[in-house]
Amino acid sequence: MTHIIETHQLTKAYNSLKAVDKLDITVESGEIFGLLGPNGAGKTTTISMLCTILKPTSGTATVNGFDIVKEAMQVRKSIGIVFQDPSVDDRMTGRENLLMHANLYGVPTSEQNNRINNVLKLVELEERADDLTRTYSGGMRRRLELARGLIHYPKVLFLDEPTIGLDPQTRDHVWKYVRELKEAHDITVVLTTHYMDEADRLSDRIAIMDYGKIIALDTSSKLKETLEGDVITVKADNLEALLSVITEKMGLQKAHMVDDALEITVQNGKSLLPRIVDMATQNKIYVESIRLREPNLEDVFLHYTGRTIRPDTTKELHGLAEARRRAAAR
Ligand SMILES: Nc1ncnc2c1ncn2[C@@H]1O[C@H](COP(=O)(O)OP(=O)(O)OP(=O)(O)O)[C@@H](O)[C@H]1O
Ligand SMILES: [Mg+2]
Repeated sequence: MTHIIETHQLTKAYNSLKAVDKLDITVESGEIFGLLGPNGAGKTTTISMLCTILKPTSGTATVNGFDIVKEAMQVRKSIGIVFQDPSVDDRMTGRENLLMHANLYGVPTSEQNNRINNVLKLVELEERADDLTRTYSGGMRRRLELARGLIHYPKVLFLDEPTIGLDPQTRDHVWKYVRELKEAHDITVVLTTHYMDEADRLSDRIAIMDYGKIIALDTSSKLKETLEGDVITVKADNLEALLSVITEKMGLQKAHMVDDALEITVQNGKSLLPRIVDMATQNKIYVESIRLREPNLEDVFLHYTGRTIRPDTTKELHGLAEARRRAAAR
C-alpha cells in the first residue's frame, strides 16, 4: 500500500502557541482516517496545511506524492475540501455553484454536465438543483458542499466537521455518501468530527489529537483494547464518598467522576457490580443506578489525557484516583 499522505514533523506555530506540533502521520490510500480531538486540538490547522490553505512553520508533508508547499497546485488538483463553515454561494442555484467549481478545478467542458448530474444524484439533490441555494435547508447545503468537493473526482477528500449542526438523520445521510464514495471511487477520506460515535463507526483508523500532538493512533478496536477492561457507571447520592470507598477500600484506581456519575474501568466487571453495591450500602451510600458497558473513544481520550473530549465540558473531570495515580507515577 502506498502512503497517500505523509507528514514529517509538520508544525504550525502562532507566536508561542504550537497549534500543530511536530506531526508525523501517514495515511494509506483508500482509507477513512479520522482526526478526533477537543476544541483547539489542531485538527483544522492540520487539514488547512494539508490543503495548502495554510503554510507550515516548519516540517514537510506530501499529499498524493506532491509537496504541500513546493507543489501546491498539484496538491490542490488532488484534493476536495468540505469545511467547518459552509461556503456555498446563496445567490446561485445548486447547479450553478457546482458549475463554478467545475470550472475552477479545470473539469473539461465536455464532461461538466455529466459530472454535475452524477454528484447531484449522489447527494440526492437532483430535484432541487435549479433552486437558489438560499432556499436550501442546512442539511441540503451541506450535501451541496459535499457534491462540490467531489466534482473533480479528488484522490483525497478532506472533511472538517461536515456534519456539525445537522440532525442525526442528515448526519447518517452524509456519512452514507462518504462511504459510498470511498467504495465506488477509491477516494481517501480524512475527516474530523466531534461526534465520537461517528468517528468510531466510519474511520478505518483514528488519530486522537490534543494540544497539537497525536496522543494515540490506531483502529478503533485497538484503541479501546488499550483500556484493558469494561467501564462501570455508577450513580449515587454521594459520589465523593463512593469514590473514596472505591479507590481506598476496594483498591480500584481507574475511577473518574464524569458529569453526575462515577466511571470505573475494571477487568472483571460482572463480578464487581454486586460488590460495589454491597460496599456502598455498608458505607451508607445509596446507589441509584449501576451498569456495565464496553469502553468507547471518550474513555480512550480520558485515559490518555485525564480530560473529557466533549466540547460542552471544559473543566477537568478526572477524579481523585487519577490525580493520585499520576502523582505516584511521577
Ligand atoms: N489564525 C490564528 N491565530 C492564532 N491562533 C490560531 C489561529 N488559528 C488557530 N489558532 C489556534 O490554534 C489552535 C488550534 O486550532 P484549530 O482550529 O486547529 O483547532 P481544532 O482542533 O480544529 O478545534 P475545533 O474542534 O474547535 O474546530 C487553537 O489554540 C487556536 O486558537
Ligand atoms: Mg476545527
